Amino acid sequence: MPTIEGYVIVSANGMLADSTGVMPQSLKFPPDQAFFQSALDAADVIVHGQHSHEDQPRSPQRRRIVLTRKIASLEPTTQWPHATLWNPAGASFEEACKEAGAGASAKVAVIGGPVVYALFLDRYDAFWLSQAHDVSIADGLGVFPDVPRMTPQAILAQHGLKATERRVLDAARHVDLVAWRR
Ligand SMILES: NC(=O)c1ccc[n+]([C@@H]2O[C@H](COP(=O)([O-])OP(=O)(O)OC[C@H]3O[C@@H](n4cnc5c(N)ncnc54)[C@H](OP(=O)(O)O)[C@@H]3O)[C@@H](O)[C@H]2O)c1
Repeated sequence: MPTIEGYVIVSANGMLADSTGVMPQSLKFPPDQAFFQSALDAADVIVHGQHSHEDQPRSPQRRRIVLTRKIASLEPTTQWPHATLWNPAGASFEEACKEAGAGASAKVAVIGGPVVYALFLDRYDAFWLSQAHDVSIADGLGVFPDVPRMTPQAILAQHGLKATERRVLDAARHVDLVAWRR
């Protein structure tokens, strides 16, 4: 079985991007970005949608599975190095991992956007929720499609995850990181 972990930073009101669908500068904090980068370096495969590429120096070395409805099931792509396109309507996640060259016990990092995060809610071994408690984003894009009707924490709890360790990433700007585990 693969180990599946999710990574995101959200505003106080649970938004991961602004009203134009872009992650704003106000959600970028060096300690969070360093944590995110080292987590992705430790992963065997990254999973994301068309607009959630992590754009880091080591991105070209990483295997990735990119969700799209534009293909029937699984296809290689030259859009990014080491990338496999996946439509969950036509192939299982295990089949996608195999096609991407990730082993049966691969360490998988899910990095968004909202629909992609929600797709794995019943499968996460851990979900790493960073939050900037002083930042509020009006009319933004919530981390899950049910945000802001529900908080991210309520959604994670509803899917059997529990808040475990908390790390302070930036005390002055009230940014923390909570690991939600099954
Ligand atoms: N703050 C953070 O930590 C964080 C994290 C992640 C993302 N973000 C930001 O959020 C924004 C992205 O949001 P987004 O909603 O556009 O996410 P996205 O990652 O681009 O996902 C949406 C795309 O993925 C594909 N997709 C989604 N669900 C699918 C499904 N069930 N089956 C097949 N394909 C599916 C679709 O591709 P096709 O159109 O090809 O069918 C769709 O266009 C970005 O600007 C990013 O910067 C922020």
